[in-house]
Amino acid sequence: MRFKAPYAVSFILTLAVWASGPLRQSYGAEGPGQPVSLKCEYLVNPLGIDVRQPRLSWMLEHSQRGQMQTAYQVQVATSPALLDQGKGDLWDSGKVASEDSTQVVYGGKALESGRTAYWRVRYWDKGGNVSPYSAVAMFEMGLLAPSDWKAQWIGGNNLLRKEWAIAGKIARARAYVTALGYYELRINGKKVGRNVLDPGWTTFEKRNLYTTYDVAAQLRQGANAIGAMLGNGWAVMDKRFGPPIVTPYASPALLLQIQVELEDGKRLTLASDTSWKTASGPIVRNSIYDGETYDARLEIPGWDQSGFSDAAWPPAQAVKSSGGALTAQMMPPIRVIDTLVPVKMMNPQPGVYVYDLGQNISGWARLKVHGPRGTAVRMRFAELAYDSGMINRENIRRARAEDTYILRGGEAETWEPRFTYHGFRYIEVTGYAGTPSLDSIRGRLVHTAVEPVGSFVSSNPTLNAIQKIVRWGQRTNLHSVQTDCDQRDERMGWMGDLQATGEEAILNFDMAAFYTNTMRNIRDIQGDDGTVTDTVPHKYGSRPADPAWGTAFPQLAWYMYEQYGDRRILEENYEGIKKYVEFLGSRAPDHILRYSYYGDWVAIQRTPGEFVSALYYYYDVEIQRRMAEVLGKTADAQACAQLAAQIKEAINREFLDQKKGVYANGTQAANAMALFLDLPPEHGSGPYGTKDAVQFNLTHDILYEHDSHLTTGFIGTKFVLPVLTRMGRSDLAYDVATQTTFPSWGFMIANGATTLWELWQNKVGPSMNSHNHPMFGSVSAWFYQALAGINVGPQGAGYRRILIQPQIVRDLASASGTVETVRGPVSVSWTHVPGTITVEVTVPVNSEARVILPKEDQMGEVVVREGDRIVWDKGKFVAGTPGVTAGAAGKEEAAFLAPESDTIGFDIGSGHYVFKLTAE
Ligand code: BGC
Repeated sequence: MRFKAPYAVSFILTLAVWASGPLRQSYGAEGPGQPVSLKCEYLVNPLGIDVRQPRLSWMLEHSQRGQMQTAYQVQVATSPALLDQGKGDLWDSGKVASEDSTQVVYGGKALESGRTAYWRVRYWDKGGNVSPYSAVAMFEMGLLAPSDWKAQWIGGNNLLRKEWAIAGKIARARAYVTALGYYELRINGKKVGRNVLDPGWTTFEKRNLYTTYDVAAQLRQGANAIGAMLGNGWAVMDKRFGPPIVTPYASPALLLQIQVELEDGKRLTLASDTSWKTASGPIVRNSIYDGETYDARLEIPGWDQSGFSDAAWPPAQAVKSSGGALTAQMMPPIRVIDTLVPVKMMNPQPGVYVYDLGQNISGWARLKVHGPRGTAVRMRFAELAYDSGMINRENIRRARAEDTYILRGGEAETWEPRFTYHGFRYIEVTGYAGTPSLDSIRGRLVHTAVEPVGSFVSSNPTLNAIQKIVRWGQRTNLHSVQTDCDQRDERMGWMGDLQATGEEAILNFDMAAFYTNTMRNIRDIQGDDGTVTDTVPHKYGSRPADPAWGTAFPQLAWYMYEQYGDRRILEENYEGIKKYVEFLGSRAPDHILRYSYYGDWVAIQRTPGEFVSALYYYYDVEIQRRMAEVLGKTADAQACAQLAAQIKEAINREFLDQKKGVYANGTQAANAMALFLDLPPEHGSGPYGTKDAVQFNLTHDILYEHDSHLTTGFIGTKFVLPVLTRMGRSDLAYDVATQTTFPSWGFMIANGATTLWELWQNKVGPSMNSHNHPMFGSVSAWFYQALAGINVGPQGAGYRRILIQPQIVRDLASASGTVETVRGPVSVSWTHVPGTITVEVTVPVNSEARVILPKEDQMGEVVVREGDRIVWDKGKFVAGTPGVTAGAAGKEEAAFLAPESDTIGFDIGSGHYVFKLTAE
């Protein structure tokens, strides 16, 4: 019995690592293994990138523990054959003495537009042994200069076509495409690629994202037909949905360029221009919020194939560009990720069929129907249903969320929309021809195709259920922009929601390329005065942003640095962030930043907005200071340190109640935020103005005033559990996290949530109550960082140094987390039975970790084994175990049952370890 749980946990872990693919191959090899997981700008074999000095990364494997990279050699060539001969004609780095296995900047010849580069890497380990070369990876440049673009923006209608004769055998072909609105590109009757809702949403006046496709297989020698369908997307937005902060465009437009190389070396270009022809197709209505109507009777058979006569079609019109730079879409595209079978079909009223997917998702439905021509089948989408079985759409406000398909007639028909998406669990079908069955509808899950990189499971089912709904909420709100929600007439890039969940998102999904683009989006909207906006791109909300929203600018940059070791993000954004911080300063003459719109939004107990803003000003200055330190901007770092000290003093003067030992009005949010930022003095003028008093009051409020429940909104929630853990009160944090009564995550689950809600309250009426709002999801970061104990160590950006400090709390018998970091998977998996704590740890090659094991209070002297060797005995470290370089006892916030418990820490190198701590 006793060993069942550990076995199950490590099995899951092994599966997770095994499933991650390329890491498998060199297990068992002796010495340094082939580098694996080669990426360029965070992407696997990307086509069409426009970073002129792209960064390369790889992961390492080694048969021994405690291994590091001491040198690398990268070869980049214009063909794989050259690499085979050992030649890097674009770049041969030679042997570079360096530990860097991520963020390695390409240092070869200038990379040219449209050219493919092939690359491989090998490394030297600590002993000077060289690994075999990696398999060959590639990256390809996009169109780097504006003059590379011969294409013209065209529009006029929603179908566009062009015939193109290619005289010769095709060796290579690329399509570069973007749109104002959405496009579906078709060649010779077939859709190109698997992207949907492309391109990503940007501030179109600043940037348009183009996608590069390899179309060699779809084009052919001889006659070709190129077609494009256009949708409205974010660019062509109904004025009903708020004031046009960003210019709305009257109709969608396309920009397309196809470049072909023939076998004889000839190069051909097809570019969108006014020689294209247009028509109106079967999509008669489309809108992100409102849905799509498709009249299959209006289909034009053969329009996207060659030989079709478009003589009667009017020519395309030249359309003015939005003025934005054409930049490569260097992040995963939006795709149909999965197809869900409904769990049930209800028939609440005659002719009304309601499907329940059993899961709230973002996307649409695929309809299967057979019936008379002209029958209109209507699908309406909802997150909720009434007891009667009818859908409840009271909370989606003005979004019509309705798709209609009008039948062609004849054969059975299958249809799904192209240019809309909905947030929903239920689908109401009316007007169906005949009687539908469960098979008539499928749910299509649609979001940006980020790879999952993290997993967390524990012996507590509530925690596991929370983790599940956090992940569902997070991924379904990734639609090129991270949105607040996916269902109502909003779906904006709210910056507050972004900053609250950024770390959680990074631990669960590979957000590196996605957030790199988000950072660009933020730069795009920054004003000359340094301000940023509440939503990015700016569609709702204010400029300047509420400081708890605008903080996403520095916060996200810092998360990118911490989590991915991304120094370039700091370099590229430092000046912008500095300017932003200066703007905040200009509004805070007495060092208190007071303006605020939302504060600790959706809290149960409100915290004064000016307090929240004042703290974020301090926080942002702090982040700028850290950035300046990393970048070696010493004077700036000093200036920030000085300013931060002044702000801290001003905040303590104004908001720290010396009589009560609380900040502002004493809410959990107020005290937790202040503690998180280390504001309270260790020693006050009286007994109450101190850190101890604030800590006492925070725990007192949670424990006695609220029976271990939160009163915070989503801004404050992010801080409470980490602060409790830091205080040595992970036990209390755990109690809060595992609640199932109002207000708590478990309460949402007990009431049927399959994605996180916007409110702690269970509301289903016409008020603001989205049932898919990921902003309370920060709790998942606490699962990884506290319960599994996986943290970036001090000076350890990108997991170069890892701090593993699992919080073994209460009756939690096991927890395990894995994060596939930029250096490889970091895993921690522990079990606890009274008297024995087992902690299994995996550290990637080229990283080091400190593992801090907590002791039970009652244990007294303990023995720690790693595998079958003793590493700790009689209060001392026992040397000699490979990979375990040091050990020491301490009182490092063990948070095990009692805050003052002892801990035992070990320094370890890469490898897999099983520590077992038992009472002597
Ligand atoms: C959004 C939030 C956002 C807030 C600003 C709401 O409408 O859905 O998530 O942060 O406005 O207060």
